[in-house]
Amino acid sequence: MAWNPETYNQFKSDRFRPFYDLLELVKVKPGMEVIDLGCGTGELTRKLADSLPDSTVLGIDSSEEMLRDSLAFANNRVRFEQRTIEEQVGLDGKYDLVFSNAAVQWVDDHETLFPNIISMLKPGGQLLIQMPDQHHNISNRMLNRLAEKEPFRTALQGWTRTSPVLDIDQYARILFEQRSRVMNVFEKIYPLVLQDSNALFDWVSGTALIPYTEKLDGEIRDEFISEYRRLLQEKFEKPPVFYPFKRIILEATF
Ligand SMILES: C[S@@+](CC[C@H](N)C(=O)[O-])C[C@H]1O[C@@H](n2cnc3c(N)ncnc32)[C@H](O)[C@@H]1O
Repeated sequence: MAWNPETYNQFKSDRFRPFYDLLELVKVKPGMEVIDLGCGTGELTRKLADSLPDSTVLGIDSSEEMLRDSLAFANNRVRFEQRTIEEQVGLDGKYDLVFSNAAVQWVDDHETLFPNIISMLKPGGQLLIQMPDQHHNISNRMLNRLAEKEPFRTALQGWTRTSPVLDIDQYARILFEQRSRVMNVFEKIYPLVLQDSNALFDWVSGTALIPYTEKLDGEIRDEFISEYRRLLQEKFEKPPVFYPFKRIILEATF
């Protein structure tokens, strides 16, 4: 998927907020070995490392574009590698902390993925994951509904993005089945207050819109974008736009 760090970084402070919530849940120990799955530009990976004394942190991400500037955040305790999460879970490394902010929602089949991610932990290790609750976020639902309408349905060959994100009670069950007895599983609303519906469009274009627009070309792509803008305008007609963005946070030790 073609990520664009400039578009993504447009809403840095809003996008960083859940990261700081995750950071507060870290059970800090000296000399931890940490992995950040889907680390993006690496800026938050570095902040994570800076808050963990003597720890080493590996950030992995599938996107060359997102990793382009990560060298600036690397040091003797922080390094980055281009790799998918699916590839990483098949490797040998074991970690004290497996961390992931706003990335695993891009990987399918969480019933299989989560046990695989948890198997990357050392005994006593901690899992800390944040992801948007895509089933309940209206901007995602509007995208799916638009893709199901003609002429987009034909242009997309019937494709719509099926979110792999489960309900929080399903994650709690998976954590229990993987032998976690200490867990913190919750949803939180991150209120977005945006200037108008165009700003909301810009927010979505940094993430959820990408898989749709990269499957369309030329006129039909432009039409999809302007129809989505129009629908957002209709739904959020009065500025400022208040958008309650719902996210899932999972914290567990094993
Ligand atoms: C919304 S960004 C979050 C980046 C960073 N964690 C942050 O909080 O700023 C999602 C990231 O997940 C990465 N990603 C998506 N699918 C992935 C996969 N299968 N394996 C590794 N990274 C993936 C993208 O390249 C992107 O950098």
